[in-house]
Amino acid sequence: MPQLIPQVNTAFTERFSTPELTIFSPGRMNFIGEHTDYNLGFVLPASIDKGIAVAVAASKDGKTSIYSVDKDELLEVDITQPLKRSDIGWANYVLGVVDQLQKAGAQLSNFNCVFGGNIPIGSGLSSSAALENGIGFALNELFGLGLDRMKLLHLSQLAEHEFVGVKCGIMDQFSSMMGKKDQAMKLDCRSLDYGFYPVDFGDYQIVLLNSNVEHNLASSEYNVRRSQCEEGIEVMQRKFPGIKSLRDVEMHMLNTCKDELTEVVYRRCKYIIEENQRLNDFVAALEQKDFTQCGQILFTAHEAMRTEYEITCPEIDVLVDLAKQQPGILGSRMMGGGFGGCTLNLVHKTNMDAFVEVMTREYKTKTGIALSAYRIAVGDGVHRVNQ
Ligand code: GLA
Repeated sequence: MPQLIPQVNTAFTERFSTPELTIFSPGRMNFIGEHTDYNLGFVLPASIDKGIAVAVAASKDGKTSIYSVDKDELLEVDITQPLKRSDIGWANYVLGVVDQLQKAGAQLSNFNCVFGGNIPIGSGLSSSAALENGIGFALNELFGLGLDRMKLLHLSQLAEHEFVGVKCGIMDQFSSMMGKKDQAMKLDCRSLDYGFYPVDFGDYQIVLLNSNVEHNLASSEYNVRRSQCEEGIEVMQRKFPGIKSLRDVEMHMLNTCKDELTEVVYRRCKYIIEENQRLNDFVAALEQKDFTQCGQILFTAHEAMRTEYEITCPEIDVLVDLAKQQPGILGSRMMGGGFGGCTLNLVHKTNMDAFVEVMTREYKTKTGIALSAYRIAVGDGVHRVNQ
């Protein structure tokens, strides 16, 4: 991201004065494990080298001014007064974090902030967590609040629950905050234990293909999926009082309760139990450098998201079906919350250029939409950058 930081710093200087500090907050990709986080299962994300830059300084004019470079929109608010939800979409991510910091007891004064990003919004790369974490991290530094990364990432998640209205899991905020260069993170979303695995697919590379179908999780079925899982748990607890989340459920237990569950809830629960298993199988295959097996698991995971969890969309299914037919492809699946966004593809390096070219052409022919391809690298979690 050579230009992002100077661009945000320059915009800050033009509007206010010199920023006191600038933060880079990454988006994330996820190799496997979708919708498993709020079911307290496992995820395998990585922080990426694209994200959001946030420049801040204390304000001396009694108001907080926040400017989005990408939207060319300015929000002015006095944060020492009670905060209200805004009609400006991005503002709620920022205000939500300010609100959570204050609820956690932080003494904040008004501040000036400019932010901009190089991850497309609604593309499944978690621009929202990047923004939340960037704001939280920046204000923590600016006001010397002394909060650690774990506390900050939880505040980001709460901001999304309460101000934005998406009952998201912990994966996005966690990986953006705790990520490490060139490493994927296996996170246990119940204990929050995590470990790193080198992102090394030998002769194969990851490429993300953006369907350019934008999702909006707040108005999508995301929260519906979450409540369907909760419904499944409630029913199964009658037979298995010890279970607290789908993490505790095995297939034979689910099958014992099949008659008491609606057909839809049964399918949702089955997907989650099997997705956790797929993740463990993927990690084992990665450790053995069995990339063919990794790829097969990606294809299977996509099919399960399409038919059992029902979170894909026609354009994304076109992308995966097209990818399957290309030389050098090992696997492909939709990534992130669903209903649009990107697919993750594991492709042989020698086939990569042709792959991107053919996919772009065929996708346009079939859907009329232009495709964007990102060859993404894995970077560090949220950090301060030089101005
Ligand atoms: C969104 C949410 C995450 C997670 C993914 C799906 O990105 O923010 O918590 O549930 O969807 O895996």
